[in-house]
Amino acid sequence: MREETITLEVTRYRPGHDSEPRTESFAVPYQKDWVVLDALNHIKDQLDGTLTYRWSCRMGVCGSCGMMVNGVPKLTCSAFLRDYYPGPIRVEPLANFPVIRDLVVSLDDFMEKLRRVKPWLIRAVEKPVSEGEYRQTPAQLEDYKQFSMCINCMLCYAACPVYGLAPAFVGPAAIALAYRYNMDSRDEGYKLREPILSESVGVWECTFVGECSVVCPKGVDPAAAIQRSKVAGAKDWAMAMLMPWGGRR
Ligand code: SF4
Ligand code: FES
Repeated sequence: MREETITLEVTRYRPGHDSEPRTESFAVPYQKDWVVLDALNHIKDQLDGTLTYRWSCRMGVCGSCGMMVNGVPKLTCSAFLRDYYPGPIRVEPLANFPVIRDLVVSLDDFMEKLRRVKPWLIRAVEKPVSEGEYRQTPAQLEDYKQFSMCINCMLCYAACPVYGLAPAFVGPAAIALAYRYNMDSRDEGYKLREPILSESVGVWECTFVGECSVVCPKGVDPAAAIQRSKVAGAKDWAMAMLMPWGGRR
């Protein structure tokens, strides 16, 4: 009996060699329990070893396998072939990022934005280890927990029309991570992050399309983080007007 197949239409591109991206079609075995990443691995192992893409964990944790699947940003290790049957399935590099080769995009812009928002705990003065840990109540943990689930997959940037039009926009995940640390009761870095969030390409650039939250595979809500950061920034501005001598931590 002939094996059933499904077609993957994959973007191929080598900047510097090719004048523009092209699409190449591959027929791969149709297995109900295969994800798009399995199909790409089949192409690489059996059909064309030059196909280039990123992946690592194959379990929705590392954030490295993000691509456009039929025009939607997806983790390809979580996108089942059966959900696209009978195909074809279009696989393209993440939108809004420069392509390095085939399905691999450059992370440089995102990594720089992440560095700028200081996504780590900042303390004015670290207490000595002998004084014990910084303790939190369950309610304090709840304030930021969902925002700590981000795996830096960049799907939200690929879905964001504002980032597509204005690449300087700090963007959903970086703002969500800044918010995550601003909401952490152990952190004292709000004033260091606030100037970055309140600049013209910070939170105010967001027009609240909300697609970032729709595509996030980890249930993070970057759109909410951005809107809440706007409220916090506006309150700070008002307080600074009323009480120029005081302010937030
Ligand atoms: S917020 Fe969600 S979509 Fe954006 S990088 Fe983090 S995990 Fe990915
Ligand atoms: S391979 Fe790690 S998230 Fe998909």
